[in-house]
Amino acid sequence: MAIRKIRQLGDECLTKVCKEVKLISPRTKMLVQDMFDTMYESGGVGLAAPQVGILKCIVVIDVDDNPYVLINPVILETSGEQTGYEGCLSYVGKSGVVTRPNYVKVKAMNLEGKEYVLEGEELLARCICHECDHLEGIMYVQKVEGEIVNNEDLYGNEEENE
Ligand code: NI
Repeated sequence: MAIRKIRQLGDECLTKVCKEVKLISPRTKMLVQDMFDTMYESGGVGLAAPQVGILKCIVVIDVDDNPYVLINPVILETSGEQTGYEGCLSYVGKSGVVTRPNYVKVKAMNLEGKEYVLEGEELLARCICHECDHLEGIMYVQKVEGEIVNNEDLYGNEEENE
C-alpha cells in the first residue's frame, strides 16, 4: 500500500491534458493500486492520475463499493441534468455547485486492457464527468455556479470528496 501526494489546486499538473495509455505495464498496475489506496485513505470517491502528478488518462472511481478503473475513458453519451455540490481531493475542504449530466455512458479499458462500457447515474455520473475533466486539465472550480463554500459549513464534520 502506497499513498501518493495529492496535488492541490494551483499545481500545474492539474491544468494539463493527459496522454493516452498505450501499454498497461506493471508500473501502470502499481499506479492504479496506489491511486485506490490514496483515494480511500483520503475518503474520496474518485481520483485521476494527474492528481498524483501522472499525466496519463487513468481514473479510479468507487462511489458505492464498486471499484472501477477507467483507462483512456471516452464519454459516449450523456443525458439529463443534476445540479448539486461536489468537491475534489485537489481542493481539500471546499465544495461548489456544478451542473452535470444525470446519466453518463463511458467506454474505457480495464487493467487487463479490455474495453468495457460503464453506465452511471447520479453520483456515479457526476464522478465520471468530474474525473474525465481532470484528464483534460479541468477542475470543477472552473464550472462552479455561485460561491465555493467550506465543507464544514455544508456537511459539519462529515466530508465527501471526489
Ligand atoms: Ni477532483
